[in-house]
Amino acid sequence: VQLGDLNTLHVPAVARFYWEVEDADGLKEALAWAANHSASVLILGGGSNLVFNGDFNGLVIRICVRGRYWEHARNHEATLVLGGGENWHEAVLYAAGAGYRGIENLALIPGTAGAAPVQNIGAYGVELCDTLESVTALDRRTGEVVRLSNNECRFAYRDSLFKQSPGRYAIIEVRLRLSRDKPLQLGYRDLEEYLGERPRSELSATDVAEAVMAIRRRKLPDPDLIPNAGSFFKNPVVPSAEYKSLQSTYPDIVGYKQPQGVKLAAAWLIDQCGWKGFRNGRVGVHNRQALVLINHSGGTGRDILELAGKIRETVRAKFGVELEMEPGVVG
Ligand code: EPU
Repeated sequence: VQLGDLNTLHVPAVARFYWEVEDADGLKEALAWAANHSASVLILGGGSNLVFNGDFNGLVIRICVRGRYWEHARNHEATLVLGGGENWHEAVLYAAGAGYRGIENLALIPGTAGAAPVQNIGAYGVELCDTLESVTALDRRTGEVVRLSNNECRFAYRDSLFKQSPGRYAIIEVRLRLSRDKPLQLGYRDLEEYLGERPRSELSATDVAEAVMAIRRRKLPDPDLIPNAGSFFKNPVVPSAEYKSLQSTYPDIVGYKQPQGVKLAAAWLIDQCGWKGFRNGRVGVHNRQALVLINHSGGTGRDILELAGKIRETVRAKFGVELEMEPGVVG
């Protein structure tokens, strides 16, 4: 099976075997089949956070668990249950349309609900872990379906248990705790600027989702039109002393204070190395967001990874900062 249309970078790759599963039983069946055929397994969601560096000589299982419903609606709070295969952005619009707050800042993030906890998706001042109640997953080590609490998911910036134990869990369902009356998160600079003079008390979750969509459309390429995998690197956190010394050489450096140091804007570092808008034949760097690598036409995973390697080298040479890739590499 060709995987080109199953990854948002649209790099070519072939899976030896391919199986779409719609529920936990289907998932167990597919895994048992793989075990019987000694085939390695790759669990795939929307394919928006991985790079195929060549073919996959095993079984690709695509999680197509559907379903979207409310549970325990009480007072102003409710739990939204999403099948792992549900489209994330549609779920955001659905929740906001129902008047529930909590994920509106995460509008237009590509991928599925089941993939969202893996990298703890985050944007415009909100992370998935702020509302996630639990994740239902198949633990491939024990063969049991488990429900992991927010705490058990060990969330951090672009990190989780699912990233820390790659391949162990296949996510079937997620539960989000949303509220009709909790405060909207409007503090991220781009969002504040976009909202301008609009009275904050009149804004709905849908208004915020729409603002985020407009901001993203201005800066980030639509993966349906220009293949990409979102931010290709994490924003690196450096010790405060290192930040101060960088700041003395580069007074404009962009950093945000964190409990553990200072989080640098990787986009700024890459931009300063002159990469923004760079194009090397088939692949390149987006011209409005230096953190996004794009596949212009016919690029391979190897092309993308080579470019990423060069970017890392130049950032290391100029700033002494190590960039960590965000998407996973397969093969
Ligand atoms: N900047 C540059 N050059 C650029 C782009 C940005 O110098 O080409 C500077 C900007 O001036 C700004 C700073 O870098 O001061 C930060 O830029 P931005 O606000 O666009 O956010 P980011 O840190 O680059 C992160 C997330 C995005 C998320 C935005 C908004 C990561 C790795 N990325 O980007 O997430 O949408 O914040 O919250 O944390 C994703 O993960 O795929 C993703 C798009």
